[in-house]
Amino acid sequence: MLTEEQNRTLTEVGGGTPMGELLRRYWMPVAADSQFDENPVRPIRLMGEDLVLYRDLGGTYGLVDRHCPHRRADLSYAFVENCGIRCNYHGWRFDEAGRCTEQPFEDMANPDAKFKDKVTIKSYKVEARFGMVWAYMGPAPAPLIPNYETFLWKNGFVQIVFATIPCNWLQCQENSIDPVHFEWMHRNWTVRLNGDVGPYGKKHVRVRFDEKFEHGFVYKRLVADMPEDHERWTIGRICLWPNGLGPLRHTEWRVPIDDHNTLSVTWHFTRVPKEREPYVQETIPAWEGPICDPQTGRWITSHVMNQDFVAWVGQGTIADRTQEHLGTSDVGIIKMRKRFLDDMDAIARGEDPKGIIRDPEKNVCIEMPIIDREVYVDGLTAAEMMNDPSLDPRAGYPLQAGQPDAVRFAYMEAMGIDPNNAEAYGAGYLTAAGATTSRRIWT
Ligand code: FES
Ligand SMILES: [Fe+2]
Repeated sequence: MLTEEQNRTLTEVGGGTPMGELLRRYWMPVAADSQFDENPVRPIRLMGEDLVLYRDLGGTYGLVDRHCPHRRADLSYAFVENCGIRCNYHGWRFDEAGRCTEQPFEDMANPDAKFKDKVTIKSYKVEARFGMVWAYMGPAPAPLIPNYETFLWKNGFVQIVFATIPCNWLQCQENSIDPVHFEWMHRNWTVRLNGDVGPYGKKHVRVRFDEKFEHGFVYKRLVADMPEDHERWTIGRICLWPNGLGPLRHTEWRVPIDDHNTLSVTWHFTRVPKEREPYVQETIPAWEGPICDPQTGRWITSHVMNQDFVAWVGQGTIADRTQEHLGTSDVGIIKMRKRFLDDMDAIARGEDPKGIIRDPEKNVCIEMPIIDREVYVDGLTAAEMMNDPSLDPRAGYPLQAGQPDAVRFAYMEAMGIDPNNAEAYGAGYLTAAGATTSRRIWT
C-alpha cells in the first residue's frame, strides 16, 4: 500500500515531476518507421506534451512542439521539406534541432534583422532503429538506444503493434513483474472464456525476483510438477527497465502519453522456418489494434495482451494504491516501486538511473536472459514449428486482436503459408474487427 503522495510521485509523468524526469532519461519507442511512408507528419502526445513527429524528404526525423512559435498554428498540418518541416500558415521552416531555418516574408522584407535566428521551437532527439522510431526527451547528452540481442536476430518477420490504453502507465508496467497473473488472467480465464469449466492450469508454487540484471528485473516462476531445471525457473523473463517487458520474440513497452493514457508498443519477431532462409524483410509493417469490441462496448478479451489491457484499465485511470493489499506474489512490484524511488534520488544527486547505456562497447549486442534461445538463434524447420502450438506459424498473431489482412498476408508469405488455404492459417482466430470465434490457451 502506498500513500497518496507516493502514488502521485510514481505515476505523474509531466515535465518537472520526479517520475517524468526519470522516464525522460530513457529512449522510448513511440512510432514505427513504416508509418511515415504514407503520412510523414503525425501528431503525438508524449508524457503530457503535445508534439509533432515527422520524417522529412531527406529521411531525417524530427520531434517538435505541436504549435508553431510564430502564431501557434497546428504543425500536425505542416508539410515536410528536404530538410525540416514547414508551417502551412506563413511558411516558417524548422529543422530537427529546433532551429528556424526560413521565414519567407521576413527574410525578404527585413533580411538584416535575422529574425529567424532569434526564434526556436521546442525539439527532442529522435531516431529510427529496428523498425521503430525512438524519442529522447531528457537532458543532454542522450544515452544510447539499447541494442538488445533480439533486435539483431536474423531471418525473422517483424511487426510493430500499438494500442492506446486509457489508463496510467505504471499499472501497465506493474503487470510486467506479475508472474501469477499468467495462471489466472491468461490460462484459467481463457478456459472460462471458451465456455469450459476446466481443467485449470497448474498452480504456481514459487516465484522469485532478481534485480541484479542491469536492464531490468528478472522474474522466475515454478508451477506444480515443473522441474527446477526448467528455463522458466533457471532463466526467467525480464521486466525491462523502466517501462517494458521481454524480450523474447516480443518486447513490449508501456509509453506514457500523459498521466491518464498509455501507448502500448510491441516489437514482435517470428523466425521463418529454416526452409525459408535466408529471409530478409523489406518493410517492417505496423498496425494499431482496437481494444474495445464495437458490438458489445466491452473490452476485447480474446488475445493475450487484450486480456492484460482489461486488467490495466480495470484498475482505474490511475490505480488507487492507497486501497490495495499486496501479498507475497507482489514482491516484485514492491521492489520495482522502491527502485524507482531510489532512482529518483540518484537523479537528484546527478547520477544515472538503472539501465542507462553510454558505453558503445557495452552496446554492441546486449545479451538477455532468453528462454528457448536456440529456437530464435538456430531456427526450426516448418515441421518442427507446426509441432509446437506456441510456435505454429498457422496460428496467426497471438498477442493482440485486429491484425490487418495486409500484415497477415505478408506474414504468411514470409512463413511460406498459402494465403488461399484459410484453414491452414487457423481460420476463426480473429476477424478484421477484432472479434474472435475461438481462443487459444496461453500458459
Ligand atoms: S503560424 Fe506558423 S508560420 Fe505563422
Ligand atoms: Fe499478461
